[in-house]
Amino acid sequence: MKEFKGSIDRLRVNGERLRQTMETMSKIGRTKGGGVQRLALSDEDKEARDLFIKWLKELNLEILIDQMGNIFGKRKGKRDDFTPVITGSHLDSQPKGGRFDGVLGVMGALEVLRTLEENKIDTERPIIIVDWTNEEGSRFAPAMVGSGVWSGSLDTEWVYNRTDASGKRFEDELKRIGYKGEFPCKSFPIYAYYEYHIEQGPILERENKIIGAPKGIVCLHWYDIYVEGEANQVGPTPMEGRHDALCAAAEMILKVNELPSKVKGDLVATVGEINNYPNSRNIIPDKVHFTVDIRSWDDQLALEAWKILEKEFKAISEKRGCPIRVEETWKVEHSPFDKRLVQRVLDNAQRLGYPSLYMVSGAGHDASYMNQVAPTAMIFVPSINGRSHVEVENTKWEDCEAGVNVLLHCILQSANER
Ligand code: GLV
Ligand code: MN
Ligand code: MN
Repeated sequence: MKEFKGSIDRLRVNGERLRQTMETMSKIGRTKGGGVQRLALSDEDKEARDLFIKWLKELNLEILIDQMGNIFGKRKGKRDDFTPVITGSHLDSQPKGGRFDGVLGVMGALEVLRTLEENKIDTERPIIIVDWTNEEGSRFAPAMVGSGVWSGSLDTEWVYNRTDASGKRFEDELKRIGYKGEFPCKSFPIYAYYEYHIEQGPILERENKIIGAPKGIVCLHWYDIYVEGEANQVGPTPMEGRHDALCAAAEMILKVNELPSKVKGDLVATVGEINNYPNSRNIIPDKVHFTVDIRSWDDQLALEAWKILEKEFKAISEKRGCPIRVEETWKVEHSPFDKRLVQRVLDNAQRLGYPSLYMVSGAGHDASYMNQVAPTAMIFVPSINGRSHVEVENTKWEDCEAGVNVLLHCILQSANER
């Protein structure tokens, strides 16, 4: 290992090492269709965390695990009393998810630290790499709970008591995998937060750009709807007078899909999860649970849209004699990032010769919560065919490398600012 003698502007990460690290990590929870399944606090999540910590130890980082299981690795600065630069993302995945969502931001940050280490480059400020717990919110709703508690937006006990579909508590599962740390989950002053991620949409590819610099993240509103009907034998029970919870839910779900066309402004609305009970072909369903996800850059528009939906749900519920209960599970406001850091992402992309685009993030990220407590920016790279949260999720290795080079220089500049 020799010291980097050239101009620091010419420093680049090792793309081949990044690819190998990503490929090693993607063996954990690998699915038949070529994706990964590492649900939060599962055995696969534990295995990924163990490997991550092994790699952090090789860099002699100071490792800290907090009470939410967030993992931090600190590289000392020349001025260790200066506030640190933080970078990272998440290692958990969706069910049958992709190999890049989240993990690229953690392995990319690791590649930055490895590059600094092998070139013996010290920075003024400390640099901290982070893996946030349960970003996906698929097993335990809501999403982004590690950064949510850390930033002071979510309550620890509330998160500990969230349960998965089989009734297992978050805290019990966190303990079971050995990642309920000692350290309080609480923000400390930080100088800048960068999160590197795949775009998860089609825009960069369509525009022929390599780097995306989101101006921020849309708002995310989650609701859980419980519809009550009356179960009965399907044969002898006449069609008239039935209270079929699934039919009521079906009508409601179509209203969710039609919602964006009824409002003035950009908004997306989705039902992604549905549970039907007792789920037998010869029993009229008496209970249905489904989820609603509404996102927009305009928080007010998302709230107004929900009001429209609520009225429509109520009318369907009355017409079919199927009472409903609504839980407002989660709300995160839209998150406009730090202008100076976003500009830094664009400037570095230009300097390194990567075509870039100023855009909006439609996906949620830990950066939403981090933005509430620290100057924050993200770096996006293209998703092939705009596919994500699926096993075929993919990004060209050269684009992955480009994104880490931008991350490297953003971090170097922030970490050397006094
Ligand atoms: C996070 O994965 C999201 O739901 O956008
Ligand atoms: Mn993600
Ligand atoms: Mn995701």
